[in-house]
Amino acid sequence: MLLQDKVAIVTGAAQGIGLACAQRLIREGAKVILADVNDTAGQSAAADLNSNDNQAMYVSCDVSERLDVHNLMAACIETHGRVDVLVNNAGILDDAPFLELEEAEFERIIRTNLKGSFLVGQAVAKQMVKQAEGRGPNGAIVNMSSINSFFALPDHVAYTVSKGGIAQLTKAMALALAPHKIRVNAVGPGTIATPMIDAVVKDEAFRQKVLSRTPLGRYGRSEEIAAVVVWLLSEEASYVTGETIIADGGRMSLNYMVDVPDGR
Ligand SMILES: NC(=O)c1ccc[n+]([C@@H]2O[C@H](COP(=O)([O-])OP(=O)(O)OC[C@H]3O[C@@H](n4cnc5c(N)ncnc54)[C@H](O)[C@@H]3O)[C@@H](O)[C@H]2O)c1
Repeated sequence: MLLQDKVAIVTGAAQGIGLACAQRLIREGAKVILADVNDTAGQSAAADLNSNDNQAMYVSCDVSERLDVHNLMAACIETHGRVDVLVNNAGILDDAPFLELEEAEFERIIRTNLKGSFLVGQAVAKQMVKQAEGRGPNGAIVNMSSINSFFALPDHVAYTVSKGGIAQLTKAMALALAPHKIRVNAVGPGTIATPMIDAVVKDEAFRQKVLSRTPLGRYGRSEEIAAVVVWLLSEEASYVTGETIIADGGRMSLNYMVDVPDGR
């Protein structure tokens, strides 16, 4: 097991990629705190994970609220006395063309996706530094980015900007925390079939658009992103920091388009 007895926090863990990360972390031997704003789904996910005597706990936390983040850390330390790994995954998507995007909506996305990752990342890193006492390695953090930290979406401007920010936040955190032997990386998924994009993945026009840019010929699965996250958090990636690892079925490498497999 890659993360035996490590204490992990996963934000946005009630569903989708965050839930897959929590499930995989448990399988790798970690004790996991699931943080989310969806209390019903979060509590149910933690209860499911505990059905095999595994150690999962749900904490209600809006990552964009400093007090919630403080309470998340307090709950983690009270329960486990430490934190070893973080998956900064919580994220939301805006849906408005650039010329119609409202200021409040822009702020809402940046607050959750970018400021939230900063707040949780800094709080966890402070605790990791406190735990260090000259021993190392002292911790690992993965921020959830996107291929849209490199590409741009004119109808999801705030989202695009937030994910561009995550790439730079990842590098800055990696440099600042390297002296403390804390590694910080990001994962940049392509199109992954999760509740976030539930409505569109079933749409044939969307499928054609995405898969004509996806050499592997299918959407990704949350578990495939969780596998990269766990690898980055583990000692297997002990010399990797400041990177965004793309998992997109080959989309970033493609210049033109590919044939779309028959969906029937
Ligand atoms: N699905 C994709 O195709 C895709 C692609 C690239 C990147 N991502 C990124 O992966 C991450 C997870 O996406 P997903 O597809 O699983 O989405 P999702 O909507 O299925 O899950 C996101 C979770 O985050 C939670 N959340 C939202 N706001 C929160 C807040 N303020 N505080 C705490 N939790 C909050 C939601 O309640 C939900 O449980 C996001 O950062 C997203 O940008 C997803």
